[in-house]
Amino acid sequence: MSKLWGGRFTKETNKLVEEFTASISFDKKLVEEDIEGSLAHAKMLGECGIIPMEDVEKIVGGLHEIREMAKNNEIEFLIEDEDIHMNIEKKLIELIGPVGGKLHTGRSRNDQVATDMHLYLRTKTNELIGLVENVQEAIVEKANEHIDTLIPGYTHLQRAQPVSFAHHLMAYFWMFERDKERLKDSLKRVNWMPLGSGALAGTTFPINREMTAGLLGFETIYPNSMDAVSDRDFILEFLSIGSIIITHISRLSEELIIWSSQEFRFVELDDSFCTGSSIMPQKKNPDVPELLRGKTGRVYGNLIGLLTVLKGLPLAYNKDLQEDKEGMFDTVETLEGSLKLLAPMIETMKVNGEVMRQALNEDFSNATDIADYLAAKGMPFREAHEVIGKIVLYCIQNNKYLLELTMDEYRSFSELFHGDIYKILTPEHVAGARNSYGGTAPDQVQKQIQLAKTLLA
Ligand code: ARG
Repeated sequence: MSKLWGGRFTKETNKLVEEFTASISFDKKLVEEDIEGSLAHAKMLGECGIIPMEDVEKIVGGLHEIREMAKNNEIEFLIEDEDIHMNIEKKLIELIGPVGGKLHTGRSRNDQVATDMHLYLRTKTNELIGLVENVQEAIVEKANEHIDTLIPGYTHLQRAQPVSFAHHLMAYFWMFERDKERLKDSLKRVNWMPLGSGALAGTTFPINREMTAGLLGFETIYPNSMDAVSDRDFILEFLSIGSIIITHISRLSEELIIWSSQEFRFVELDDSFCTGSSIMPQKKNPDVPELLRGKTGRVYGNLIGLLTVLKGLPLAYNKDLQEDKEGMFDTVETLEGSLKLLAPMIETMKVNGEVMRQALNEDFSNATDIADYLAAKGMPFREAHEVIGKIVLYCIQNNKYLLELTMDEYRSFSELFHGDIYKILTPEHVAGARNSYGGTAPDQVQKQIQLAKTLLA
């Protein structure tokens, strides 16, 4: 059999052109979606009396057979047949004869491919929501064990104030919560149906788009056929959300890499998530979080790639749009792989609470609290800030920490100091005092975890 569109041509396609323009090597991933779309279209054609019901039955039977064959890897997809749509249609005609050629009545590959992409992203978006949730569960579980574990909180990567380790971890829970919201919201637009738009202008056949939308579970039908066949905003949106997700994964990975370094030793990643060096026997490398951090490159690249493809593209379908697929598949697969690793990596990591606590004995992250102490006793905060700055300088020059100063030393800076200052300066007190909503005090962290659990339930 020659090309499905061969009628107008007098020459064979150049082999290089065939290879260059074919998309079957990657769009074969859409086999299930393509068959699903075709089944709905065929049924609608029958119901509307556009093709006889007995032909519909043959087509449906043939499509089911192709679906089975595809599942068992029994179909040989051919470059000569360009893409998944024509490969399937050719197979159908091969299986059931010329009647298979009736399937494409009132349809174009342009509305067909767009429909397949919508169906694919709907499935994948729902799966990804579940995978994000698994990561959130791992975070909540770890956090729950470490509400009272204190860690230096940083700004500018300089020690700032002690915080609960659970509080630090839970910050990522909320990032992933917003990611999930974004994914869910995007489904509204993924659920627009292009099918029935024809090549660009609609069709002369009396089709029923409500019926196909119902069969395929779409909520909205594109009201404009030209928009329907050339819109890839829903993919852009997915790639944008994916970029935000991988950013969150990368930030968390970066922290795990820093925390697991010899300089920090705050956490230890499980051996099963690390690798060794081929030359330095002592090494245990955090390859997994490093690679997760590195994956941002391709995910951002896929977004910029599609934005660039779409920029300046005239309506309606142009072959450029075929470039929408590989980046989308790659982002889906990268996110799947990354999220699947992240959850167990968090679950299995060892938290060195004592090392974290020890770090807090060797810093000035309680300095704000002495300023607050003086301010509470009536000194204007700005002045208190200045006094404490001098105390810290004195400490640095005399190799001491704030808890090690004598009462006399304190009183040489201000008469307002009394013995109660020592209790106020312990990291436990410093963290516990931040009891405002969303703060790091244990009560607040408990509340936050409770809220997170309700959201997950
Ligand atoms: N393989 C094509 C794509 O992915 C399908 C649509 C082709 N339409 C066309 N008019 N050539 O975009």
